[in-house]
Amino acid sequence: MRSLVIREFLNEHVQSLLPEMQRIVASAILEFKNLSQPADLIEHFAYPVASQIIGGLLGVPSNDSAFVQETTDRILDRVSSPEVAEENAFALMKFFAEIVAGKSASPANDLISRLVQTVAVSHGASGEEIVGTTALLFLGGYDTMAQVIGLGAAALIRSPEQLAKFIDDEVSGAQMIDELVRYLSVNHAGLPRAALEDVIIGDTKIKRGDGVLVMINSANRDCAAFHEPDRLNAETPSRHHVGFGHGLHKCIGAHFARVELDLVFRSLFQEMPNLSLATSFEDLDFRDDMVLYGARTLPVTWGN
Ligand code: HEM
Repeated sequence: MRSLVIREFLNEHVQSLLPEMQRIVASAILEFKNLSQPADLIEHFAYPVASQIIGGLLGVPSNDSAFVQETTDRILDRVSSPEVAEENAFALMKFFAEIVAGKSASPANDLISRLVQTVAVSHGASGEEIVGTTALLFLGGYDTMAQVIGLGAAALIRSPEQLAKFIDDEVSGAQMIDELVRYLSVNHAGLPRAALEDVIIGDTKIKRGDGVLVMINSANRDCAAFHEPDRLNAETPSRHHVGFGHGLHKCIGAHFARVELDLVFRSLFQEMPNLSLATSFEDLDFRDDMVLYGARTLPVTWGN
């Protein structure tokens, strides 16, 4: 399934999407600046930008994003009962199945249409697999991005000297985004894996068949791998972080995410150089109970 969509994530294609991303970000900033202060950067900027950009790539209308957000939240909320999570997963799959059916009937210039057409020629995947892939791509590129935009903005506001180096190009966009992805490690619930054979890690023996949760957030704060890991510092090398995963299932959207986040943070802080938290950092409502870490709201002010 990866090989069917990998071309959509190569640099040439991602660069061709840049003008549309720029338009979405610029108009979201204009709308945000029209709000009265303080305003919530997560609700009024991070979510709309993330949903419009991933929606544009895949061909999913952004006016459905409230439904997608609510169902996704219930699936990813670790306190949801299995019944509630399952019911919402079915509703979400039905939603994506209808989108895929619509694209099969009248294809457009978007990823889902191209996926449907490629599969029709190669007979390579079932309808269920196409719907599953579509949902995975949307979810992979939606909530993760919204949370990194929100937490990343808060982290940059709190590190003005790092922010200045990023805006003045003393550190590259790629360095800053990788450092933010390492530092924030929003996939904090652990990646589930099963051992195919006996493995010894440190003093621990993991037996064949055992389940493990790979905690990328703790790997990304490992003192043996990073200098001062609890500090946001884009000048120290952090490209070897595992915030995008590792190996066979490493994030397919990593390059797309880097380009999008570089654009988002650069535009946001250039257009609103006085962006500040409207509450103390300690009082922010962090999402510990969700599969993806983040903040529920991020009240900010930006001056005149
Ligand atoms: C900063 C933002 C992002 C972070 C931190 C992130 C993180 C991750 C991580 C840790 C994995 C590995 C999961 C595993 O091994 O079980 C992953 C996989 C994946 N990501 Fe991302 N991701 C981001 C953005 C995106 C975007 C923008 C897209 C799509 C446009 C995307 C689509 C996917 C997909 C489809 C997979 C599954 C790949 C596979 O199983 O082969 N991600 N991501």
